[in-house]
Amino acid sequence: MSIPRPIRKAVFPVAGMGTRFLPATKSIPKEMLPIVDQPLIQYAVEEALEAGLETLIFITSGRKHTISDHFDSDFELETKLTHSGKTDLLGRIKDIVPDRVDRVYVTQTEALGLGHAILCAESVIGNEPFAILLADDMVKNDGPGALSQMIGVYEQTGSSVIGVEEVPPERTSSYGIVGVQEDEAGHKSVQTMVEKPRPEDAPSNLGVIGRYVLDGSVFRYLRTIGKGSGGEIQLTDGIAAMLQDHPVLALPLEGERYDCGSRHGFIEATIKYAMDHDDIRDDMLDHMAGLLESHGRI
Ligand code: UTP
Repeated sequence: MSIPRPIRKAVFPVAGMGTRFLPATKSIPKEMLPIVDQPLIQYAVEEALEAGLETLIFITSGRKHTISDHFDSDFELETKLTHSGKTDLLGRIKDIVPDRVDRVYVTQTEALGLGHAILCAESVIGNEPFAILLADDMVKNDGPGALSQMIGVYEQTGSSVIGVEEVPPERTSSYGIVGVQEDEAGHKSVQTMVEKPRPEDAPSNLGVIGRYVLDGSVFRYLRTIGKGSGGEIQLTDGIAAMLQDHPVLALPLEGERYDCGSRHGFIEATIKYAMDHDDIRDDMLDHMAGLLESHGRI
């Protein structure tokens, strides 16, 4: 195998309607909702930086500019924090993205689906392999982040890699589901991919989560697949079409995954991440113990 081309670019689609969080997402993208004190998109960007990526491509809806505002410097705020001696906070808002890392914003003029959002990045990516991170899927791991784990497998094999987790069989209709064949090295080679199948039609219980390392040839398929499930251009359909001439592996990711696109998953993640903050952990635990007691759970 020749040495695979390095993964340098990450795409963050943030142009969805976020209807499950309305009215909170009427004027801000879902990816700007905070988990404790940091927006979802910042966790995803940090994961991409940890994996060594150099270009961050945000697919935004034209109406919402808060994502670029968040990553731009805010001179006035920095000056105020400097003058008031709040150096900790200053450190947290300055240089969220290091200067050496490029940020590119591409507008998806109409929310035609995740596959369409990715297609909007084609002119920036060309035919290079690249990563996709859906910020509303969080993977919390003490060791390497989800994307680092996936790039490790890509570098070993040269194959595209999609992040998966085992899902309860009755919940397959909430996921893209892969059918896989395991080789002698333990790699799970994707044979089929189905968007939101009923449990009886699901090829396995491995659900795709929002992390992908893909060969640039996926654009060719995304251009031609047309609308799929929900009347949207689906990334899953584009990858399923690519399977005919490009190997794709499914990697069960190490870590706990939170579906922050749902209110339930979002609140679970908030509680879990709060446990990492020494200044609020004990108060939170006391509060939850009180809640459990008053609801007759302990
Ligand atoms: P979702 O399927 O979660 O849809 O998108 P959504 O619109 O964000 O949220 P709901 O279902 O209405 O509550 C998955 C990812 O794809 C992006 C979203 O921003 C999210 O990161 N996306 C989706 C786009 O960028 N453009 C689209 O046209 C659709």
